[in-house]
Amino acid sequence: MPSHSCYARSILAGAISLCILVIIFMRFNETTLPALPLARTPSSSSTDLLHDVLNQTLGFQKIFVINLPSRTDHRDAMSLAAAVTGLEIEYVDGVTEVEDKALPPGGAEVHLNKGGLGNWRAHLNIARMIVEQNITSALVLEDDADWDLRIKSQMQDFARAARLLVQPKPGTSHQYLDPTWPQPSAGQTPQNFVVGEEVTAEPDTSAYGDIDRWDLFWLGHCGTRFPRSSDINAPLGRAVIKDDETVPEKQHVKMQFGNDELIQEYPAHTRVVSRARMNTCTLGYGISLPGARRLLYELGVRKMTGTTDMMFRSLCDGVDERKIRTCLTVQPQLFQHHRPLGAKSSFSDISDHGDDYNDQAFSRNIRWSTRLNLAKLVDGETDYIDLFKDGEGSTELGF
Ligand SMILES: *[C@@H]1O[C@H](CO)[C@@H](O)[C@H](O)[C@H]1NC(C)=O
Ligand SMILES: *[C@@H]1O[C@H](CO)[C@@H](O)[C@H](O)[C@H]1NC(C)=O
Repeated sequence: MPSHSCYARSILAGAISLCILVIIFMRFNETTLPALPLARTPSSSSTDLLHDVLNQTLGFQKIFVINLPSRTDHRDAMSLAAAVTGLEIEYVDGVTEVEDKALPPGGAEVHLNKGGLGNWRAHLNIARMIVEQNITSALVLEDDADWDLRIKSQMQDFARAARLLVQPKPGTSHQYLDPTWPQPSAGQTPQNFVVGEEVTAEPDTSAYGDIDRWDLFWLGHCGTRFPRSSDINAPLGRAVIKDDETVPEKQHVKMQFGNDELIQEYPAHTRVVSRARMNTCTLGYGISLPGARRLLYELGVRKMTGTTDMMFRSLCDGVDERKIRTCLTVQPQLFQHHRPLGAKSSFSDISDHGDDYNDQAFSRNIRWSTRLNLAKLVDGETDYIDLFKDGEGSTELGF
């Protein structure tokens, strides 16, 4: 029938022109999308493992993101944020049901609520997967995490800092820098090692230091403090990243559950890496294969002693009858909770954030927040929103 074939032809023509339009649009976008900014000149030598930190998994073997399948809002935003900052992520389902029978010793006495139990299980499922699949190292994120657009060069600075604090392999000619290692004597004070001024041995197995030399990098948290000699068991050394333009000026930096030593003792725009102490929230961390085995043993097999972050903390601090592990952290943190517009009750499936409405989206301490800049990033615009501008007063933000 003529009318039919005519109809078919116009559909075909329509489809072809749509295809052409899509191709033109993609081409256009490919050529106009600006390269993402880096805070500093990246390491250029491709033989140096530091170069790996600029790859799609930030120099780890994998990036895992925990997401409850019902939180499609979190997954939508996370996938977009990862895509526009050049990160390759793998989702691991959050957990809603945990059987009492399946809890390790101590589990029944801890009385975690359903959200808390699910959170514990989700983090342990990832540790187990790392162990089962023999994954050298991974970055683990909760699905409301946000980061600066310049995350790749920030992580390169973190790697340089970590190398100064992670003990070099025995037999290398480099001395261990920190005189307070493995533990400080009474009255010893912390020494600062400036990143870029000190040299350490080149690691073989990970850009961040050999994986048998570190357990966990607590990169996303809601507060920490520096170790003290009175803690007895942790080295005090600090690796200092100076003139870091991605760190907001002091009036904007919020230490949440941590203390304000960073703000008191260091000039503005300084980021400091040290051993983790009293960290809260397990929103983002790097973990080595040996670290994952220890986590799985301590939190899954040996004993449940509290909430997930309390148990991570006890491993890093070496308390609650747990051996101290090599955990580093960073102030201000590199991953932070994003608080979108809307009801605060939607912030978390674990804890209660009240009934208020949040009318300013933000991520504490993150200057060029990926989440806040999604609208710009999908359009290839580069006049990024900086919620924490130099010289401006601090904004009153919700928690
Ligand atoms: C990034 O580098 C790490 C370390 O070399 C490697 O294991 C990982 O596979 C790399 N990621 C990608 C996406 O190539
Ligand atoms: C795990 O990987 C390491 C190298 O990273 C390798 O030496 C070891 O044999 C692997 N183990 C298993 C059980 O595959």
